[in-house]
This record gives sequence, C-alpha cells and structure tokens, in this order.
Amino acid sequence: MDVLIHAVVGLHILGIAALLGGFLTQLKVMGKGEARMVPAMLHGALTMLVTGVALVGLNQADDHTVNTFKIGVKLALLIVILGLVYVKRDEEKVEAAALGTVGALTAANVFIAVLWV
Ligand code: HEM
Repeated sequence: MDVLIHAVVGLHILGIAALLGGFLTQLKVMGKGEARMVPAMLHGALTMLVTGVALVGLNQADDHTVNTFKIGVKLALLIVILGLVYVKRDEEKVEAAALGTVGALTAANVFIAVLWV
C-alpha cells in the first residue's frame, strides 16, 4: 500500500508541475496583458483534484491519520484555482490578477502541504 500511496504522491507532484509550469510560461507576457490560462494549467488542476482525493482515501484505508482541516484548506484553494482556470480557459487574454491568483494560490498550497503537519 505504501508504494501505491507514494506513486500517487508522484502523480500529485506531476500535477503541480503542469499547473505551476503552465503559469510560469505566461509570466513574461503577463506584464503585456497577453497572458492566457494554458491547457496544462487545467489538466494540472484536475490532476491535483483527482490525486488529492485518491491520497485521502488511500491514507485513510491504510489507517494513516489525515489532517482534515489542512486538506479542507487545500481543497478550498484548489476549487478557486480550478474555477478561475476553467472559466477563463478559452479567453485569448486574461487579466494579470486572475493569472497571478492562480500562481499565488498554487504556491500557497505547496507550502501548506509541506509546512503544516
Ligand atoms: C494546487 C493544489 C495542491 C498542491 C500544490 C498540493 C501539494 C502537495 C504536496 C507538495 C504534497 C506532498 C507533501 C509531502 O509529502 O510532504 C501533497 C500531499 C498531499 N496532498 Fe496535496 N496539493 C494540492 C491539492 C490537494 C487536494 C485538493 C487534496 C485533497 C482533496 C490534497 C491532498 C493531499 C494529501 C492527502 C497528501 C498526502 C498527505 C499529506 O502530506 O498531507 N492535495 N500535496
């Protein structure tokens, strides 16, 4: 079971790579107001949701304690991220504030994951 949990954490991290990597590719054009929500960001955010929920289930099935408050905060931030990316996925240009919010909340979730025990 431990191998499976670690493999899903690996997929969870690949999701971060897609979401945050997609955001970072847009940083240069963000200042010119020409940034967009790239497909990698939507796929990454969906991967975070699916693998995150799977990790909760697998950890509980294996009798590991899950910090439900921490997971709730991470889920709430991801719902905002997913909502922004999904609603604006077809827009040719998105405001810097929307893109910046996605980047900031994703980074916040990384630090919540690693610093909050
Ligand atoms: C942008 C969103 C997210 C980011 C950046 C993120 C980041 C991370 C990272 C870096 C880890 C590894 C931490 C470690 O092993 O020390 C992790 C683990 C985990 N994540 Fe996420 N996560 C996100 C969303 C979610 C969501 C939505 C859920 C649940 C619905 C979730 C549930 C978990 C669980 C259960 C673990 C393993 C146990 C733990 O360390 O708490 N994550 N996450």
